[in-house]
Amino acid sequence: MNQPVTTDDALAMLSAMDRASLIHPFTHLRGLADGSIPNRVVDRGSGCRIVDRTGRTLLDGFAGLYCVNVGYGRADMADAIYRQAKDLGFYQSYAGHATEALIRLSARLVAMAPGKASKVCYGLSGSDANETNVKIAWLYNNALGRPRKKKIVSRHRGYHGSTIFAGGLTGMSLYHEHFDMPLGPIRHTGAPHHWRAALPGETEAEFSSRRARELEELIQIEGPDTIAAFIAEPVLGTGGLVPPPAGYFDAIRPVLERHDILLIVDEVVTGFGRTGKLFGSQMYGLEPDLMTLAKGLTSAYVPMSASVVSERVWSVLRDASDTLGPFAHGYTYSGHPLGAAAANVALDIVEREDLPGNAARVGASFNRQLHEAFDGHPLVGEVRGIGLMAALEFVADRRQRTFFAPGLKVGARVSAACLEGGLIARAMPHGDILGFSPPLVIGEEDVAEIVRIAKTAVDKVADALKAEGVWKP
Ligand SMILES: Cc1ncc(COP(=O)(O)O)c(C=O)c1O
Repeated sequence: MNQPVTTDDALAMLSAMDRASLIHPFTHLRGLADGSIPNRVVDRGSGCRIVDRTGRTLLDGFAGLYCVNVGYGRADMADAIYRQAKDLGFYQSYAGHATEALIRLSARLVAMAPGKASKVCYGLSGSDANETNVKIAWLYNNALGRPRKKKIVSRHRGYHGSTIFAGGLTGMSLYHEHFDMPLGPIRHTGAPHHWRAALPGETEAEFSSRRARELEELIQIEGPDTIAAFIAEPVLGTGGLVPPPAGYFDAIRPVLERHDILLIVDEVVTGFGRTGKLFGSQMYGLEPDLMTLAKGLTSAYVPMSASVVSERVWSVLRDASDTLGPFAHGYTYSGHPLGAAAANVALDIVEREDLPGNAARVGASFNRQLHEAFDGHPLVGEVRGIGLMAALEFVADRRQRTFFAPGLKVGARVSAACLEGGLIARAMPHGDILGFSPPLVIGEEDVAEIVRIAKTAVDKVADALKAEGVWKP
């Protein structure tokens, strides 16, 4: 890749302007503003790598935010967006208007989606698409004359966004504290993480049955006639990249069916190949009543999200049209033509280059290499993953399964050590967890490099913790 032409002065100026003018998401405000936290100007990318303004190339083991699935710097993506912008940079999709790109995309999504998909409703982010799905679940129950059936059950450690309702669905206190959230009819049930939460001797299948029983108990306490929907990611993402334990969704599904509760499957991360199947729903036998898509839909080249509505839900909304009046929801940019153009090409690439197949093959090798490098490592309690999603969870004591004090920031230190080695691997927000979720175009050489850099980083932090006297393995 070309080195960017820059001077130290120009970079210092940009850096100062950044500190003076931006609020960065999920960032310590004063630390960034006063310069005690580093900032980075990112200039370009190609394949699985980005280049920053200092000219440093970094291997992106997190695909941005698990979203640049087709890789950076693709001319086919840029050309399609450019062509659409030249022909028609914007038109609205209210009241029956559409572009050819949007119509073709919608038909394609309905055909490819798991379950009995019928229609697609567009937004701009995973958060807003989850809000749309909740509003549709409410509308559905109003149309059916069930005005009390409105609560949404989510899981601890689920991540569904950071807007007011979607952020409430997110099951991590970090996203609620100091914002007076959650707001509205939201309930949380147990996280599907066997290694963390299983009782002594409890198998994965027994743990899954227990989680299903707990869900049933929650529903009984709240009243089945008050629960509209259950929302779940096929694989926990931001909550720690946790594949579900054996039998989990098989145990949960009958509980939902028994009480006529809709299933919202949040495929924002897992959609379009990341688990090794086109959708995570196919990996775990799920038929979504409502499905949330974003990220991989356009590979993040243009912001776009989608709510895919099943025939079951759609037919109720259609039949109640005269009572409900127009569907009073949407945004100026719903179905934006640039997003549609980007999505059509991104999905061409997913299909032509068989990215789910690549995620399955390279992901299996990646997970094997992670196990080889870290199983039995005194700092690593669990190595887990599926497809091209994986994580290492750090522990103070492997046998006792005890964790470090959050103030030691062990996960963040390992992530920083990876960065020193030229790798972006994300310190996940909930616990000392290092997450990997590289572009789906990644090959064998690059996953081997991820594991090699991560191993050096973990060893380095382990040695440092010992030397500082804060850890005795
Ligand atoms: C599973 C899941 N749902 C929803 C969201 C929210 O998407 P956005 O950040 O685009 O609002 C995310 C973001 O990471 C996500 O991982």
